[in-house]
Amino acid sequence: MKLAFVGGTGPEGLGLAMRFARAGHEVAIGSRSTERGQEGAAKVREAVPSAVASGGENADVVGDAEVVFLTFPYSGQAPTLEALGSRLDNKIVCNVAAPLEFVKGIGAVALDVPGKSAAQEAAEQLPNARVVSAFQNLSAEELMELDHPVPADVLVCGKDAEAKQVVVELANQIDGVRGVDAGGLSQSRYVEMITSLLINLNRKYKTRTSIRIVGLPGGEAN
Ligand SMILES: NC(=O)c1ccc[n+]([C@@H]2O[C@H](COP(=O)([O-])OP(=O)(O)OC[C@H]3O[C@@H](n4cnc5c(N)ncnc54)[C@H](OP(=O)(O)O)[C@@H]3O)[C@@H](O)[C@H]2O)c1
Repeated sequence: MKLAFVGGTGPEGLGLAMRFARAGHEVAIGSRSTERGQEGAAKVREAVPSAVASGGENADVVGDAEVVFLTFPYSGQAPTLEALGSRLDNKIVCNVAAPLEFVKGIGAVALDVPGKSAAQEAAEQLPNARVVSAFQNLSAEELMELDHPVPADVLVCGKDAEAKQVVVELANQIDGVRGVDAGGLSQSRYVEMITSLLINLNRKYKTRTSIRIVGLPGGEAN
């Protein structure tokens, strides 16, 4: 598939792009600057020599992508989606944003967003896109360590069943990950909030945590 990453120059976008490039997908790294997008693509090719990776401005890389990942901070979501507008029509748009802030003495704190979740806000702003949310709980550091599996469940939320299945299958292609259909976009709020908990656990125990859901039909993940 052709996958594009809006704000793909950060660790989360690059980590996902590297994993998907290694699985054989074509990836395009988007940025607010053409040069940074191209540099991001070069990093993917360096990490994954077999990668078919290009880079450029956000508006350009989404053009022929089948799935567009939103991998930039929630604070930039509304203006970025406003600028991309109809370019995202009919595409699967996967929101990875976990709205949070860091508060001294507490750590990561999940933000209450007006539209209940970043993903629901994206869906409202992009009525003609097939918005799903996923990957908010996967650490970029884990993703970028390509020699190691990422032991985690990726909870995929959305109302478009076919779009959700595409993203579940992409998640399953990351070594160690199990993609799980977690229901409608209203569930994304809870998934987005878990990221703050994981960050705070990582700090407390000086480790990298992820989530696994037990008790789902079909048996337990490895
Ligand atoms: N890092 C993690 O471990 C992790 C884990 C799970 C989920 N996430 C989520 O994934 C997303 C990306 O995380 P990240 O750590 O990669 O983020 P990041 O490094 O802070 O940002 C990624 C890229 O987004 C672009 N960007 C920054 N501010 C922007 C704005 N206001 N408007 C538009 N674009 C902007 C920048 O690219 P250009 O300057 O090149 O445009 C930046 O390189 C976030 O929403 C985060 O909540 C991250």
